[in-house]
Amino acid sequence: MTIISPSILAANFLELQSEIDVFKDQDATWLHLDVMDGHFVPNMTFGIPIIKQLSHNTNLPLDVHLMVTNPRFYFDQLSDLELENITFHHEAVENTIELVQHAKTTKVKKVGVSIKPNTSVAEIGLEVLKNIELVLVMSVEPGFGGQSFMHNSLDKIKELCNIREEHNLKFQIQIDGGINADTYKLALDAGADNLVAGSYIFKNDKSNYIDKLNSLRN
Ligand code: DX5
Ligand code: ZN
Repeated sequence: MTIISPSILAANFLELQSEIDVFKDQDATWLHLDVMDGHFVPNMTFGIPIIKQLSHNTNLPLDVHLMVTNPRFYFDQLSDLELENITFHHEAVENTIELVQHAKTTKVKKVGVSIKPNTSVAEIGLEVLKNIELVLVMSVEPGFGGQSFMHNSLDKIKELCNIREEHNLKFQIQIDGGINADTYKLALDAGADNLVAGSYIFKNDKSNYIDKLNSLRN
């Protein structure tokens, strides 16, 4: 089943608990947490205290997307939490494989690496792909919700599928940015198995969140 990861960036932060509780009985549903530091991306969101509180207040698998210049600090601060996944940006670090290996010493279940729209799959490198559980292909420039889907992400998804098959690897392929009723099909057809969606799910009445969520599965 396709995993859908609603991004709380588009949620009502003043009612966060009730916003996320809507999803609590849904299968194959993660909660996507966009951490922005105002340096790696111009925008700022939330950080470690909120992630810790969320981890104690929901059973949903937490999917942390670090858009920060110092991801190692966040891995260390979050090292005792049993998060489902933490993704950091290849562009943010000098040595991606070194941080992947460091991340494996924490309690996080999966480690992901993300590439921005102008970064190629080749830049990640096979050694990294062999050691991670998720690749996040950005289909917008990171930093803001509500942007339009960039179609060059589809070729990257296909390329990753080919590499995964050729080398018998296991990583999930997640796509993030501009996913809606039209674009999700393109992403699934290209081979994505994990879709992040912010505005499409949350910019509705709460009673529609689940319908929106499940409308993205096939
Ligand atoms: C953008 C974030 C996304 C964002 C997606 O930098 O990484 O997760 O919340 O929002 P939508 O689905 O509105 O494009
Ligand atoms: Zn994100």
